[in-house]
Amino acid sequence: MYPFWEVPFFTSGLVIALVATFHILPCHLATGAFWFNVYVERKAFYEKRPELLEFLKKYSLLILIFCFVIGSLSGVGIWYAATVASPRGISALIHNYVWGWATEWVFFIIEIATIYVYYYTLGRIDEKSHLTLGWVYAWAAWISMIIITGILAFMLSSGKWVETGGFFDGFFNETYWPQLFTRTALMFGIAGAYAVIVASTLKNKEVRLELVRTASIWGIGGMVLGAIFTFWYLFKLPEHAKDLAFGGTLPYLKSMLYVAAICYGVVLLWFVIFGLIRPSLSRPVIGIIILFILFAGIGAGEGFREGARRPYIIDRYMYGNQIIAYNIPAKNIKAEVPKFQKEGFWPNLYFKPDNLDLSKTKDRLLAGSVIVHHQCGNCHALDRLGKIRPLSVLLENLAPESPGDIADFLDALGDYPYMPPFAGNDKDKEAAAEYLFSIVRR
Ligand code: HEC
Repeated sequence: MYPFWEVPFFTSGLVIALVATFHILPCHLATGAFWFNVYVERKAFYEKRPELLEFLKKYSLLILIFCFVIGSLSGVGIWYAATVASPRGISALIHNYVWGWATEWVFFIIEIATIYVYYYTLGRIDEKSHLTLGWVYAWAAWISMIIITGILAFMLSSGKWVETGGFFDGFFNETYWPQLFTRTALMFGIAGAYAVIVASTLKNKEVRLELVRTASIWGIGGMVLGAIFTFWYLFKLPEHAKDLAFGGTLPYLKSMLYVAAICYGVVLLWFVIFGLIRPSLSRPVIGIIILFILFAGIGAGEGFREGARRPYIIDRYMYGNQIIAYNIPAKNIKAEVPKFQKEGFWPNLYFKPDNLDLSKTKDRLLAGSVIVHHQCGNCHALDRLGKIRPLSVLLENLAPESPGDIADFLDALGDYPYMPPFAGNDKDKEAAAEYLFSIVRR
C-alpha cells in the first residue's frame, strides 16, 4: 500500500469526481466539434460562402482555448488526483493498458498539432488543404475517444479479462460498445450546444439564424441518439451494478439518473425552442446557463457510473480501497483479502509510524487510525464534521456500545453489496474497532 491521501471533510474520490466531471465538457467538445466544423467549412468551400468563415474562426478559437488549455490542464489534473488518491488503481490500469494510452497519446498529439495549424492557417492556405486539416483533426480526436473508452469501460465491467488477463478481453468488455455509442452521440450534443452559443454571437443575422438552427439539429440528433444508447448502456451494466442501482440497495443512484435525465430534458428543450423553432431568441447568456445545467447532468450521470461500480474501483479486480479482490492466475495476481486476514494488514503496510507497540492503547489507536484510513478512507470521510458518508455519523446510527460491537460490524462488512470485506486479522480488527469507537459522534 502507498501512503494515504486524506482530503479533510470530503474524500479523495470527490476531488477526482469534480475534476473529471469538468473535464468531460472540454474533452467531448474536442472530439465532437470538428465534425461540425468540417461540415460548415465544406459548405463555405463548395457553396462559395466566405461569410461562414467568421463562425469557423470563432468556433476553432473556442476549441483551441477551452479544450487545449483548460481541457488539457484538467486532464492532467485527473492524472494527478487519481495517482495520489488511488496509486494502486492507476498502477493496475497502467500495467494493463500502457500501450492503449500510448496509442491514444499519439492521436492526441496529432490533435494538438492540427488544431494550431488549422486555426492559424484559416483563410491563408488553399481551401482544400485546409479542409483536409479539419478532417485529420476530426478523425484523430474521435479515435482517441475510441481508445480511452475501452479503458474507462474496463473499470466498470472488466469482461473476460478477469479469467484470461488478455488486453482486448478487458478492452472490448460488455459496456464498451454501448459506452462508445453513447459518448459519440453525446459529443455531438455537447458540440452542438457550444456551436449554438458561438453562432448566436455572429454579426451577420442571416448566417447567425442559419447556423444556430443547423447546430441545434446536430445537438438534438446527438441527444436523442444519446438517450437511446443510454438505455442500451444501462441494460448492459454488470448484474451487481444493476442490483445496487435498481434493486433498492442504494436508491440515491437511481435519483442521480433522474437528475441527469431532467438536465438532459432541459438542454434538449433549449435546443428545440431557442435553436430550431425560434433561433432569433438564442442568446449566448442563455447558452452559458445551459452549459451549467449540462455540467450538472453530466456530474449526476458520471456519479451514477462511479457509484454503480462499488465496491470495486476496477470491476471484480480491485476494491475501492485498492485491495485486490480476485485471483487472476493469467496475470499472476492474487486476491489479498485472504492474505491480509491470515498475515495481518498492519505487518504488510510499508508506510506507517515506526515502533508502535500494539499492546499500548495509545499506539493501538494510532495503528487503528492508519488501518481505517486505508480500508475505509477512500469512500468515507473520517473527520467528525466530514461531509461524504462520515463514519462518525454512520456508526453513531448503529449505536455501538463498545469496540466489540464495531468489531462484529467489521466482520459483517463484506455482506454489504457495496463494501469490501474487512481485510485484516483479529489484531487489525481490534485496533480498527477501538479507533472507530473513539470517533463515533456522541
Ligand atoms: C468502496 C467504498 C467503501 C469502502 C471501502 C467502505 N465503505 Fe462503508 N459504505 C459505503 C457505501 C456506498 C455505504 C452506503 C451509504 C452511502 O452511500 O451513503 C456505506 C455505508 C457504511 C456504513 C453504514 C451502514 C448502515 O447499515 O447504515 C458504515 C457504518 C460503514 N459504511 C462503515 C465502513 C467501514 C468501517 C469501512 C472500512 C473498514 C468501510 N465502510 C469501507 C462504501 C464503502
